[in-house]
Amino acid sequence: MSHVPELAVKNLHVAVEGKEILKGLSLEVRKGEIHALMGPNGSGKSTLANTLMGYPRYEVTSGEILFKGKSVLEMEADERSRAGLFMAFQYPVAIPGVSVANFLRTALNARRAGQEANGTGAMPVGKGIPPKEFRALLREKMALLHMDESVAGRYLNDGFSGGEKKRAEILQMAILKPEIAILDETDSGLDIDALRVVAEGVNALVGPDLGVLIITHYQRILNYVKPHFVHVMVDGQIQISGGPELALKLESLGYDWLREGKEVTTP
Ligand SMILES: Nc1ncnc2c1ncn2[C@@H]1O[C@H](COP(=O)(O)OP(=O)(O)OP(=O)(O)O)[C@@H](O)[C@H]1O
Ligand SMILES: [Mg+2]
Repeated sequence: MSHVPELAVKNLHVAVEGKEILKGLSLEVRKGEIHALMGPNGSGKSTLANTLMGYPRYEVTSGEILFKGKSVLEMEADERSRAGLFMAFQYPVAIPGVSVANFLRTALNARRAGQEANGTGAMPVGKGIPPKEFRALLREKMALLHMDESVAGRYLNDGFSGGEKKRAEILQMAILKPEIAILDETDSGLDIDALRVVAEGVNALVGPDLGVLIITHYQRILNYVKPHFVHVMVDGQIQISGGPELALKLESLGYDWLREGKEVTTP
């Protein structure tokens, strides 16, 4: 593929509270591609995700993040989201007082307004999506993720189980239709059935219009959502990249062989 990658991270250095966490990380994700990002606890995976989304505590000290060929470094988190970047959080927060349905409708209207501003909107925005159309969309996507319809009326993530929170994140992705989605440990805390449902939900959304970066510790989800590329992050850098076989190798060998710098081959 030769077109400009939707997401291009170039020699990124990021500091949190004055401490350098990302130390020269480069990565490209195109629509239609599934990338898995693995690596030991504390290696900087969530830092990368949070930085891509533009959370203020993450200071880009050098390097570049391009989305659809344009730097996002001056864009706020909500602008990035409207432009088509999406992140499912490792630890989704509750928003008491805001129902799932209201949250999603507001987010979708903002996203469509963003598409409209870009001239890429599929439909006129006006006052936002008509309630009836939104309910139908919500029902369809909740069915896809085997979610009970009563969840729509509950406050977002308030009292949700771990698995319900992760499903709600994927529901948000299904509704917003981002171009690049970052899933930070969306598989953690899911039981076997929920993992399959969530993975099938992701698979149903993956296609030529979506590129995905899946951050995970476990090979298991990659049995369902097949990555084209697997990257391993160690100490703020991508130490090695490969295909799906790399995840299998990590599953059996762990990370020590990488930390010790014994293996230097790249595919
Ligand atoms: N807001 C913050 N304040 C202080 N330190 C931070 C902050 N965010 C991240 N760090 C530090 O940055 C390092 C990388 O953290 P990060 O959460 O990115 O790792 P991770 O690879 O996602 O780990 P895990 O696999 O456990 O989720 C850690 O040492 C962490 O303590
Ligand atoms: Mg993390």
